[in-house]
Formats: sequence, structure tokens, C-alpha cells
Amino acid sequence: MRNLLGVFFFIFLSPFLVKSLSPSLNDDVLGLIVFKADIQDPDGKLSSWNEEDYSPCNDWVGVKCNPRSNRVSDLVLDGFGLSGKLGRGLLQLKFLRKLSLAKNNLTGSISLSFAQLSDLRVLDLSKNSFSGSIPTDFFSQCGSLRSISLAKNKFSGAIPESLGSCSTLAAVNFSGNQFWGFLPLGLWSLSGLRSLDFSDNMLEGEIPEGIGSLNNLRAISLRNNQLTGKVPDGMGNCLLLRSIDLSQNLLSGGLPSTMQKLSLCNNLVLRKNGFGGEVPDWIGGLRSLETLDLSENNFSGRVPDSFGKLQSLKTLNVSKNALTGSLPEAMSNCANLLAFDVSHNSLTGNIPSWVFKLGLQQVLLSGNGLSGSIDDAFALSLENSRNKLLILDVSQNKLSGEIPSAVGDFGSLQLLNMSRNSFFSSIPAKVGQMKSLSILDLSENRLNGSIPSEIGLLKSLDEMRLEKNSLGGNIPISIGNCASLISLSLAHNEITGPIPASLAKLTLLQIADFSFNKLKGAIPKQLANLVNLQSFNISHNELEGELPAGAFFNTINPSSVSGNPSLCGAVVNRSCPTVLPKPIVLNPNSTDATTDTITQSFGRSKKLLSISAIIAICAAAAIIIGVIAITVLNLRVRAATSRPAVALNFSGGDDFSHSPSTDGDSGKLVMFSGEPDFSTATHALLNKDCELGRGGFGAVYRTMLGDGRSVAIKKLTVSSLVKSQEDFEREVKKLGKVRHDNLVALEGYYWTPSLQLLIYEFVSGGNLYKHLHEGSDGSHLSWHDRFNIILGAAKGLSHLHKMNIIHYNLKSSNILIDGFGEPKVADYGLARLLPMLDRYVLSSKIQSALGYMAPEFACKTVKITEKCDVYGFGILILEVVTGKRPVEYMEDDVVVLSDMVRGALEDGKVEECVDNRMQGKFPADEAIPVMKLGLICTSQVPSNRPDMAEVVNILELIRCP
Ligand SMILES: *[C@@H]1O[C@H](CO)[C@@H](O)[C@H](O)[C@H]1NC(C)=O
Ligand SMILES: *[C@@H]1O[C@H](CO)[C@@H](O)[C@H](O)[C@H]1NC(C)=O
Ligand SMILES: *[C@@H]1O[C@H](CO)[C@@H](O)[C@H](O)[C@H]1NC(C)=O
Ligand SMILES: *[C@@H]1O[C@H](CO)[C@@H](O)[C@H](O)[C@H]1NC(C)=O
Repeated sequence: MRNLLGVFFFIFLSPFLVKSLSPSLNDDVLGLIVFKADIQDPDGKLSSWNEEDYSPCNDWVGVKCNPRSNRVSDLVLDGFGLSGKLGRGLLQLKFLRKLSLAKNNLTGSISLSFAQLSDLRVLDLSKNSFSGSIPTDFFSQCGSLRSISLAKNKFSGAIPESLGSCSTLAAVNFSGNQFWGFLPLGLWSLSGLRSLDFSDNMLEGEIPEGIGSLNNLRAISLRNNQLTGKVPDGMGNCLLLRSIDLSQNLLSGGLPSTMQKLSLCNNLVLRKNGFGGEVPDWIGGLRSLETLDLSENNFSGRVPDSFGKLQSLKTLNVSKNALTGSLPEAMSNCANLLAFDVSHNSLTGNIPSWVFKLGLQQVLLSGNGLSGSIDDAFALSLENSRNKLLILDVSQNKLSGEIPSAVGDFGSLQLLNMSRNSFFSSIPAKVGQMKSLSILDLSENRLNGSIPSEIGLLKSLDEMRLEKNSLGGNIPISIGNCASLISLSLAHNEITGPIPASLAKLTLLQIADFSFNKLKGAIPKQLANLVNLQSFNISHNELEGELPAGAFFNTINPSSVSGNPSLCGAVVNRSCPTVLPKPIVLNPNSTDATTDTITQSFGRSKKLLSISAIIAICAAAAIIIGVIAITVLNLRVRAATSRPAVALNFSGGDDFSHSPSTDGDSGKLVMFSGEPDFSTATHALLNKDCELGRGGFGAVYRTMLGDGRSVAIKKLTVSSLVKSQEDFEREVKKLGKVRHDNLVALEGYYWTPSLQLLIYEFVSGGNLYKHLHEGSDGSHLSWHDRFNIILGAAKGLSHLHKMNIIHYNLKSSNILIDGFGEPKVADYGLARLLPMLDRYVLSSKIQSALGYMAPEFACKTVKITEKCDVYGFGILILEVVTGKRPVEYMEDDVVVLSDMVRGALEDGKVEECVDNRMQGKFPADEAIPVMKLGLICTSQVPSNRPDMAEVVNILELIRCP
């Protein structure tokens, strides 16, 4: 029967009707249900309010009843997340004494009818979004209201004069609204008032003398209004006052001496007014004071000695006045002082030693004329008080001398600001002991020496400012351990050496300023990892090379990099010399960047210049000879292929059918692992269809072993050049020992004086040359495949070099791809089988590898080392990335791949070189460094090429995670 709509109807259309129709209905249940229906309760906090219940007194959340009358006395719904407007439902709660709806989202204005709740003693509507003005007569019938809080709403208008008729009021809190106009005169007749808070409104006018009649007042806050005039003498009559907050008004004049009677006052806050004159001596008589805040006024004269009598004082703030003289020695008696702020006055003299003896937590002395050294005061500080200091700011004074290393004993310091003084020592290593430090500012002094590496112990440091000193030395690598650092300024010093790569570990870093120093070297590429960077100023140093590639550095403000003559790249509008490679400036070992050594061989380039020139000349000659040679060779090959194939009927063929134990005449077969039945293989050797390919050293055939395993057999065609049997066997056995996933394994060999065979593991996927240049089915290698091939081949080669074997014949047709797409380097070390490493023979054997051939082959004076393979590998890299042959023959032009890529890099168009069969699906931040690596590997001077182990490391660094 208690249907909600029905209830609504009755209450709002005909209250009398309700009573007459259902005399048994409980007004409280009705009132609360209607209240609930009017508001929103998104968290369902009021779900226990059930309209079927006959009484709300038992288990309705927030409701309390008077046990005798069984009527609702308290309704406390603080922080229930309620929103909407207060309806008239609550007016049914005739016996309500306490209504507290604080910390909700309620809106609308409050209506006069509230006054009908004649039993109401406590009304708390604070922290909602109520608005509108309070009706003028709101308080006329306020019955027995003791406490009203409308704090932190959006009420506006004048505070009604009727407030004065609420003679029972003890607490009024209208703080945090938009009340304007004068303080209501009626207020001063409320002799029972104990607490008055009108703070954070827009009240104006003067504080009337009448305030003196509030002789029960314990706390008054008129903070943050627009009150003017003087503090009335009457204030001194409120003898019970404990807390006075008149801050942030427009009050002026001196403080009335009547206030010295307020001996119970423990909180006196007059901040940010226009009070002037000397700080009265009598303040020292307010013995209960715990907080005294006179800051941001116009007080002049000295800090009175009488402050020494304030034994309870915990916080003293007289900052931003016009105080002069020195700090009173008498204050050494303020045994409870915790926070001491005299900053921004005109105080002079030394820092008294009591400052570091009393166990203060905050010492703020900045912006005065304090002088002398801080040493003595520090030295006299007491052990147990040192650990209490959290904040020390002595900036903008005239302090001089050393920064005492005792500063490290203040182990709890969170902020240390000694900037803008004349300290002239080096930074003591003991700063590293201030483990809680979050701000360190020593800027604008005359500090010298280098930054101690102990700075890396400051794990909580957010901000480090050392700018405008005379600091030298390197930036310590340990700075990378300051993991919380957000802002770092070392500008305007004389710091040398490189920017440490360890900086890249400071992932929170937003602002870094290294400008106006003498920093040298390249900028570590890893800095691109600093994703939070907003400003990175390295202007006016001696840095060189390219900026790291990355989102921030691509859009860096040119003024942040100016004044570095050797810096290059688009931002500084200077093209980078291509031999100044990016990958090489990395330490291949360091992902954690603990060392900054740069494995560049370019430092040596001056000495080698002449050799380099020779090589360049030789190389030019080699290319010309090579082009002629290859043309001749091509003609020959064409002639050969047009002849019918006859060559395969080789004489040793029959020998194969014999077992390995047959006599020497018929040859010797050695398999390195066991002795498989080889006889079934014989026919395959005779079968031209089984030919896999031909190279400088002979033709290769596929055949099957007895166990069904495929092998590739290379028939060496250069028998006249082959060494004696012993030499041959020794070399082949050495090659047979080489085992690596990226190397085609040599499984065995066969030897007769007229026929030599090498037996290799068979690799199913064909060679890289075919994949790159003869891709028939239109499918092509993805970037991932290509990178994998480059990396695998590099690993294979690196392993060879570790075994002291030079490949001599690296080219794409010697890279085989297995069934899983893994590359395997083939045909290595065969030059060892030649009687001697004759350059002419070598280059004639491998002339088909033109374009891969290192220039030193053409120079008799330069020793051939494994670096010739690195050259070939460089070409291979370029070939794999661009999909172009090392040398392409146009109609009447020869395009040398490495020159083309180098040219494109200089023109900033290197990305266009990437094989367009990938249709742009490649990460530029891998492809470009890889191409640069390729170019470095093809340096003319062998010693400028990295070794293969480095190449592997660099490639792994380049690969994006
Ligand atoms: C108050 O309401 C606003 C939107 O109307 C909402 O964003 C906010 O979270 C609410 N606050 C509370 C305490 O419920
Ligand atoms: C007035 O209310 C605000 C908000 O609830 C509170 O922060 C302040 O302390 C109150 N003032 C007094 C004097 O209790
Ligand atoms: C501060 O006081 C001085 C005299 O002590 C006076 O000349 C000056 O006008 C005052 N300044 C303000 C802003 O009241
Ligand atoms: C890199 O690491 C290897 C072995 O860990 C070491 O031998 C080599 O010196 C390191 N190179 C550099 C430049 O630190």
C-alpha cells in the first residue's frame, strides 16, 4: 500500500489528506523515502532504506532515533556520494537534532523552511555544491541551532543580519563560499560564539570594535577576504582566543597592544596583509604561541630579542618583510622550534649556531644579506639535531668559504639550496650521504673541481642545479644512478669530456641543460630513450657527430644545439660526413652504458691518411681492372654455357664406388664423422642434373649418402694449384673442425692427385644471390628475413675469424639459406688450399666476386687480413638491404653500390635506397643504421673497419627490441 508514487502525491498535493487518510503512517519513514526519491544515490548507500519498513530506527544506514520517542534524531550521510537537490522530505523529520550531509554532491539552494526544524542543533552542509544566497530571514526562527557549517559550497550574497538572532550559536563556519558585503553587525551579539570561520570569501569593510563582546570566542578566521583597516583594540578582549587567522586581507597599521592580553593564543597568523611598523616586543609575552606567521607584510626593524621567550614556539615565519639587523642570539632558547623562515628580509650578520643546534626541520634564510662562512655553525651543530633537518635554504645571501663536508652529516635533508652565494670550494664527496635529498641547488657560486662521482648515490634526487660555477672535469658516469632525476642543469661551467651514455638510464628526465661548457665527443645514441625529455640544451660546447635519432631529438629546438661547430645533421643544417658512422660510436658491449669508451678507430685516421690515399688509388685501379675482367669472364661463361655439357665425366668417378680402405692409387676418402656408406652416391656425381652451381674453385653437386642424408660435393677444378696431399689434408682438417650454426659444415674430403672433392653439409634453401636477384615467384624477403640473414652471416663470419680463418670469398652466392631461413656461410677458407696466397691468383679466383673485393687486394704493400672479409660483408649488407647487385652494369655506365648508398646518405635520401620490393615495410631506425654499418665496413682503410665480433654486437644493438 505504501507505493512511492502515492506517497509523493499525498505529500506534495495534500499533506492534510495524508494525515487524515493514513493516520498510522510514520512521518519519518515517509520523509526519508521522499528525501531518497529526490536525490541520486549512485553507490546505493541508501539501499537499506526500505519503504516497507514501519520504522527507520532499526537498520536504516545513517539514521539514529531517540530511543524514547522512536523518532529520528540524527541523520548523518557524510560522504555518501549523493547528488541532486534536497526536496521537502526532510521537513517531515520534526524531531531531527542533527543533520549532516557533508561531502556529497548536493546542489540547489537552501530554503527558508529549514527553520521549521525547530529541534535542529547541528546543520552541516559543508563540502557540497549548494548555491544561491541564504534567505534574509533564514536565522530568524533558528530555534536551538548550535552549530552551522555551510563551508565549501557555492553560496553567495550577503551573510544575513538575522544571524544575530541565533543566540544559541556556538560555531559558525561559512568558509570557502562566495559571500560578499560587510561582516553582519548582529554577529557581535552572539556572546556564546566559540568558533567563527568566514575564511575564503569576498567580505569587505573593517573588523568592528564589537568583536570585543565575543568573550567566549576561541577561534576566528577571516583569512582570504578583502577586509581593510586596522585590527580593532577590542580584539584584546577576547581573552579565550587560541587561534587568530587574519591572513590574506588588506589590513594595515600596527598590531594593537591590547593583544598582549591574549595569553592563551597559540596560533597567530597575519600573513599577507599590509601590517607595518616594528614587530612589537610584547609578542614575546604570548607564551602559548606555537605558530607565529607575520610573513608578507611590511614589518621593519629587528627580530625582537623577546622571541627568545617563546618556549612553545614551533613555527616562526617572518619572511618577506623589511626586517634588518642580525638574528637574535636569544632565540637559542626556543627549544621547541621546528620551522624557521626569515627569508627575503634585509638581515645581516652571520648565521647563528643555534640554527643548527635546536633540531629544526626547516631553516629558510634565503634572500638576505647574511655573510661569513657556514662552517662554524655547521661544526657546532649537534649530532642528534643533524638528522632532523629536512630543508635548508641559505640561497641569495653573501655567504662565502667552503661548502663544509659536514653537510653530508645532515642525512635527512630533502632540500639543500646554497645557490647564489660566494662559496668557493669543490663539492664535497660527502654530499653522497644525503640519501633523502630531492633538490640540490648549488648554482651561481664559485665552486670548482669536478662533480664528485658520489653524486650517483643520491637516488631520490629530482632536481640538481650546479649551473654558473667553475666546475671542471667530466660528468661522472655515476650520474646515471640518480634514478629520480627530472631536472639537471650543469650549464655555464667548464665541464669537459663526453656526455655519458649512462644518462640514458634517467628515464624520468625532463630538462637537461649542459650549455656553455666544454663537452666533447659524440652524443650517445641511447639518449633517444629519454621519452620524457622536454628540453635538452647542449648549446655552446665542442660536441660532434649526429644527434640521436628519436622523437624528441627530431624536433629539438635549434638553439639548444647551436654553438657546436662539429655537430652535424638536419637540425644544425650541416650534413654529416658519412665516415662518421653512428653505430660505431657505440660501445658494443654496453647496454647498461657503464663505460663511455668509444670504440672508434677514427682517432687514428690522421696517421693513416696517406695509406688511405694509396688504397683509394689502388681501389680505383682495381675497379677498372675488375670491370674489364668481369666483362671478359662473362663472355667466357656465356661461351661455356652454350657448349654442350661434357665436363662431368671425370676420371675419378669410378673410384667412388670403392670403399675408403682401397689403396692410394684410387684415392682416399675421409669423412670427419664416422664412415657412412658412400657407394650409393657415386652415380649422383656423374649426373649433370645434380649440379648445384659453379664457383671460382669448382662445381658443386648434390648427392645422397647411404643413410639418406643429402650432402653437397665440391669438385675442385684448380688441381694444378692444390698443395701436396699432406698440406691439403692439414688445411682441410682444420676447416673440418669449424662448426657453427651459420657456417656450412665441411663433412669430409676425397683426394687423388688428379681429383679433389670436398664434402659439405647440404643446405636446402638455395643461395642468397638467388633469393635477392632471381626471386621468381614474386615473393621476396621481408625486413625481418633480411636482418636475420645479415646477423646470421655476421655471426658465422665472426666465428670463422675467431678460428683464425679468413673467408676470402664472401659474396651473396656463398651465403646459403636453410629450410628455416637461417643463413649459412659457405666456401670459406678455400684460399688456404692454394699453394700460396698469391694476390693475383686470389683475385683471379674470386674475381667473380667483384664489388665484394676489398681495395687492399690491389695493393701489394698492404697486408691482407680478416678485414677484407669485413669489406665484403659491408657490401653484402648493402646488397641485402637495397636488393641491388654490388656492381650493376647499365648500358654505358657501371653503378657501384657502395658509392651509390654513400651518395644517398650524404643527400639525406638514404631511405630511398632500401629495396622497394619491401614496399616501405621496414623500420627506418633499423634500416638506416644497418646501411651506415655497411658503409663503415666498406671503409677504404682496413683498420677503420670494425671487426666481425663488433659488427655482431652493433647489429644486435640496432635491432629494435
Ligand atoms: C560530483 O559530481 C561530479 C559530476 O557531476 C562528479 O564528477 C564527481 O565525481 C562527483 N563527486 C563525488 C564526491 O561524488
Ligand atoms: C570550516 O569548515 C572547513 C571545511 O569543512 C574546515 O576545513 C575548517 O577547519 C572549518 N573551520 C573551523 C574553524 O572549524
Ligand atoms: C612600508 O613601510 C614603509 C615605512 O616603514 C613605508 O614607507 C612604505 O610605504 C610601506 N609599504 C607599504 C606597501 O605599505
Ligand atoms: C667487450 O667485452 C669483451 C668481453 O666481455 C671485452 O674483452 C672487450 O674488451 C670489451 N670491449 C670494450 C670496448 O669494452
